[in-house]
Amino acid sequence: MDKLVIYGGQRLKGTIKASRAKNATLPIMAAALLTTKPVRIRNVPKVQDVKTMAELLSSLGARVNFTGNDVIIEAQNDLSLEAPYDIVRKMRASYYVLGPLLARFRKAKVYLPGGCAIGPRPVDLHIKGLEALGAHIKIRHGYIAAQAKLLKGQEILLEGKAGPSVGATANVMMAATLAKGITKIIGAALEPEIVDLANFLNSLGAKIKGHGTSTITVEGVKELHGGEWIPIPDRIEVGTYLCSAIATRGEITIEDCEPKHLDTVLLIFKQLGCELTVGSNTIKLKAPARPKAISVVTAPYPGFPTDLQAQMMAVLATASGVSYITENVFKARFLHALELNRMGADIKIEDNVAIITGVERLSGAKVMASDLRASAALVIAGLCAEDKTEISRIYHLDRGYEALEQKLTELGARLERIKS
Ligand code: UD1
Repeated sequence: MDKLVIYGGQRLKGTIKASRAKNATLPIMAAALLTTKPVRIRNVPKVQDVKTMAELLSSLGARVNFTGNDVIIEAQNDLSLEAPYDIVRKMRASYYVLGPLLARFRKAKVYLPGGCAIGPRPVDLHIKGLEALGAHIKIRHGYIAAQAKLLKGQEILLEGKAGPSVGATANVMMAATLAKGITKIIGAALEPEIVDLANFLNSLGAKIKGHGTSTITVEGVKELHGGEWIPIPDRIEVGTYLCSAIATRGEITIEDCEPKHLDTVLLIFKQLGCELTVGSNTIKLKAPARPKAISVVTAPYPGFPTDLQAQMMAVLATASGVSYITENVFKARFLHALELNRMGADIKIEDNVAIITGVERLSGAKVMASDLRASAALVIAGLCAEDKTEISRIYHLDRGYEALEQKLTELGARLERIKS
């Protein structure tokens, strides 16, 4: 397994371009199963999760061809309707094939990925939504078996205890595009990735309205046609690099991003004392000499994203004073706190709240990545720590950050990958 060695202490400076969002690309790739016609997705990020989705679609019998950062997917009628465990276990987002397969072929079998390092990840809302459309669903031997004679539009209340679900909203919305009649998803997720998926589906002939609000209406159509799409920029990647700049007291510009998707995050950065210059698709950030301590609460969009919680914790580890992070989306998503403490941070966890007493400086250590965003937090900590930090299990980073070493090197960081 590869390791990442970071020599900390360089202030990040310079300009990089954002990649396109992995979390928008994955459902869009799965949605290509809804049509027999070719779908071309441009500028997809070259990350492991995208490769895994390509592998999954190929295993179902779709033709998937990459040229540079573009991918063409063509799913004819001769598909297998079973998503194999060996691929699904690598990536939870594999469940995105459930809605499209069910909608087009009225049948699907998808192995259930287990829990993961960020805590339990139930699929009850996916099931509730698809059952409401008329699917019969059974969970047996570790897989979801779904079938339906006919999918029929319904009013569906999709919100769970932790609020709306991005994955369930996407799955039900995709299934509803080919259902008979009108589906109303009440309690839909507002995330920009859902809006992008809906816009993409509409570009293929779907009739979706209300995306970006908590009620999405889908009027079923007979079939979708092919098309071409460029997914939205990756707001979590952008937030991660901005956190790296704050932690290293740097000054960076990110181009090709969508600042409106980061409104709440940028407000929080201002509270830390950052100077921000925001253009239509650029963000320039100048970090303060030392960030102020603050309180951050994660929440579904437009709240502060749980996917930036770990990176924010790495920033607050060296803020002046005591900060609080309340994790409301995945309440046990705090494994990175223990690794940050091994680097000299002072973080205590009480239920779903992290209490972070800022220290002057972190010190480099050997640490282990536990999930994608936790790994990003360790990179940020390593960039601002004294001496050398060695991060093992960096395959987690490769799942979601395109050209991470190259982008950080462009910003003046000193790091190297040690191949095993
Ligand atoms: C997506 C993102 C992930 C992000 C998360 C929250 C992708 C590929 N992944 O994951 O990076 O952290 O949104 O922004 O886009 N829940 C249920 N029942 C369900 C489904 C979810 O109770 O059937 C709960 C979850 O446990 C969690 C909350 O709802 O507490 C939100 O999860 P959800 O939005 O579904 O996350 P994902 O779509 O899996």
